[in-house]
Order: sequence, then C-alpha cells, then structure tokens
Amino acid sequence: MRIDILSCVPKLMESFFQHSILQRAQNKGLVEIHLHDFREFSNNKQKQVDDYPYGGEAGMVLTCQPIVDCIKFLQNQRNYDEVIFLTPDGNTLNQKMVNSLSMYKNLILLAGHYKGIDQRIRDKYITKEISIGDYVLSGGEIAAVALADAIIRVIPGVIGDEMSALTDSFQDDLLSPPVYTRPRVFEEMEVPSVLLNGDHAKIQEWQLQMALEKTKKLRPDLLKNDD
Ligand code: 6GU
Repeated sequence: MRIDILSCVPKLMESFFQHSILQRAQNKGLVEIHLHDFREFSNNKQKQVDDYPYGGEAGMVLTCQPIVDCIKFLQNQRNYDEVIFLTPDGNTLNQKMVNSLSMYKNLILLAGHYKGIDQRIRDKYITKEISIGDYVLSGGEIAAVALADAIIRVIPGVIGDEMSALTDSFQDDLLSPPVYTRPRVFEEMEVPSVLLNGDHAKIQEWQLQMALEKTKKLRPDLLKNDD
C-alpha cells in the first residue's frame, strides 16, 4: 500500500513514521508513506496557500490552486482509490472503516488547516471526508497520522504476531481484556490465577468473559451495534 499525505506543515508528521511499527512496516516494504508540502505547488510569488474568505468571516481559507495541483501531480502518476480529507465535519472514524481502507492500494490524505479549505476542492476532488472524533484540532495532521497508523497496523505482516492486530480492542466490537506481566505479585495485587496454569481453553474463556464484562461496563453502546 502507498499513502500520500498532503499538508502545509508535513514536518509535524515526520517522526511518527520514523519509529516503531510504522517505520518497520515501511522497512518491510508493506507500506510506502510520502509526505508532501502543497505550499511547494503554489503559483503565488510568496508561496501563499491561503486567502481571506468571501463573505468576510474570521479566519483564512486554504486556496484551490496549490492543493488541486498537488493532487493532480499525484493522480497523473497512479490511480488513487480514495482522496480523503481529514475534517471535524467528516464521518467519524471507526475500526470498520479502517479495515476497509486497509484493503486499498493507493490513498491520498489531505490535512487541512486554518478555517478550512475552499469548498470547490471538496466538491470535485475529495472522495471521502473523515473526522477522528467530536472535538476540534488545530490541523488535520494529527488526524492524518492517526488514520494512517490505524490503517497500517491492520495490514497483514505489519505486526509481528499475526493475531495481534485482529485481537485489538474494537476488532470484534469488544474491548480487550486486561493483560499482566511479571512479577506475579505487585504491591499485594496478584495476577489472576487462571492465567498461570497454562490451560489455554480456560484462559481464552476467561479473556472473553473479561472482554464482555469490560465492554458492558465501559462501552455498552458497542454491544448493541449490529451493523
Ligand atoms: Cl480530521 N481535523 C481537525 N482539524 N479536527 C478534528 C478532526 C480532524 N477530527 C476531529 N477533530
């Protein structure tokens, strides 16, 4: 899979892709990440990418030309499955959306800034609009990184233990059960004994029970979800 991320501050995102799982996924050749600064596509002398909004509201709006030229530059080189705009008024991201996006070959993610982007970019070039929750971030970069991370971790082979991403919280509409490591006793708190006796059937049964109880208590809405 190839993911191209467009932003006017791509540096904000660099380090996330240079460490840990996201770095390893790229080294293994499972994903290619390309960060682009659409300011470089600006025809303006000062490389300006924003302008005052028509109608005179507060804040600046990202202009069509640099973003559209950057998108066209990429689309001239390969076909993209989706051109995704990260925006608080998009569809709220969930694991199901992440899983289906992970099947694609080429994705463009556009991170906005300031007051927003010119509506005509959205009307003509954007195929999906995604939000990562009901709160406002200063820019779409954190959302773009969150989306890319969520997608990449479910690509087969990215996580060492093949089972690991599939047993994440939310993959089966259940939160993950609690986990423990050594020591067996810490400040008088003991690891549940079922985990110590090596009976894998019993352990799995316990883990499912814990996942159900935890979900019922913390996220009962997930259990009602039958779509
Ligand atoms: Cl995708 N962008 C911004 N700026 N804020 C957000 C968001 C996205 N999702 C939630 N809040």
